[in-house]
Amino acid sequence: MDKIIIKGGNTLRGEVEISAAKNAVLPILAATLLSEDKCTIENCPMLLDVFVICDLIKSLGAKVKIDEESGLTEIEALNIKDCEQIGDLSRKMRASFLIMGPMVSRFGKFKISLPGGCNIGTRPIDLHLKGFKALGASVILDHGNVEISANKLIGNRIYLDFPSVGATENIMMAGTLAEGETIIENAAAEPEIGDLANFLTKMGACIEGVGTGTIKIKGVKKLIGADYKPIYDRIEAGTFMIAAGLTNSNIKLKGVNEDHIKPIIAKLTEMGMDIEMDNDILIIDGRKELKPIDIKTMPYPGFPTDMQAQMMSLLSCVVGTSVVTETIYENRFMHVAELKRMGANVKIDGRSAVIEGITRLNGAAVKATDLRAGASLILAGLEAEGETEITDVYHIDRGYVEIEKKFKMLGANIRRIKE
Ligand code: UD1
Repeated sequence: MDKIIIKGGNTLRGEVEISAAKNAVLPILAATLLSEDKCTIENCPMLLDVFVICDLIKSLGAKVKIDEESGLTEIEALNIKDCEQIGDLSRKMRASFLIMGPMVSRFGKFKISLPGGCNIGTRPIDLHLKGFKALGASVILDHGNVEISANKLIGNRIYLDFPSVGATENIMMAGTLAEGETIIENAAAEPEIGDLANFLTKMGACIEGVGTGTIKIKGVKKLIGADYKPIYDRIEAGTFMIAAGLTNSNIKLKGVNEDHIKPIIAKLTEMGMDIEMDNDILIIDGRKELKPIDIKTMPYPGFPTDMQAQMMSLLSCVVGTSVVTETIYENRFMHVAELKRMGANVKIDGRSAVIEGITRLNGAAVKATDLRAGASLILAGLEAEGETEITDVYHIDRGYVEIEKKFKMLGANIRRIKE
């Protein structure tokens, strides 16, 4: 397993290009199963999670071609030979369950292993299942597998008890080929859902209300192939923004849309960072002294849970008291034990963490326990005095494209040891 080694303390400078959003690309790749025509997705990030979903789609009989240099990914799901995916691939990542909506909608039946993924909470799929049942499907849970079948999906009104991103996406995809109108109430509003809706619309789907909390999908008979370029990764952008604050640096991020990262900009600005937009380039100045703040993770447009761990690294080095409250997941403080090894002063009290910021962290041997926890340790290592060695970096590779190369380009002393 690879390791990342960082010698902290370097100032960063220059520009880095932000990759396409993993969380937009995964549902979009799943959505290609809704058509028998070829779909072409440009600029796919070459990440472990993307390879897993492509392998899954391939294992069902679809043709998948990936140009790893450009990220151009072609999928043609004309001949699906199998309506089952029981096994390691689907258990590897939670997002594998996103192929359920397209498969049931197009073929009336699909069976898959219950999904796996980051170990940050119980992460049930009850809201997805509630949606499929409301559309008239029957659900059988058996020996760790879930089988969903319907002669025909019929549109219905579905109220989500919580605005789940994945459930909104799965039900939206299922509704595209259902008979009549599907209405999702208390739907999630994350930008990646808007991106999926734009792709589905290009395929011929009829979708309204994305971003408003109520999404209406009018079922159509057939979807056609489409070419699409997904949006940039707001979480990757946020991670680099925090790096500027941790290293007292001024850096530029290319390919960013300010609208999607307003919650992150708002908090970093409150702390004292200067952030401005110049066309599609975001300029972040983290050279001023920063103030402690309180943060509560919320569904979009609230502060993203996927930025909580990285923010904790920053607050650990801002003198004063900050409080971080995690409302989305019940077990998303696993990075705290690792940050403490680096000297951070953090106390957990239920769903909140109280951070007494110190002037500087110390490099240490630490372990990435999940994707964003891993990113938070890289950030901490960039600031810390001495050497930080991060193990289990495969978690980080699930969601960041060549993160150490991008930080190295900006001037960080960071390297990967392949093992
Ligand atoms: C997506 C993102 C993930 C992000 C999360 C929240 C992708 C591929 N992943 O994950 O990076 O952290 O949104 O912004 O887009 N829940 C239920 N029942 C359900 C579904 C969810 O109780 O049926 C709960 C989950 O346990 C969790 C919360 O709802 O506590 C949020 O989950 P959800 O929004 O569904 O996240 P994902 O789509 O899995």
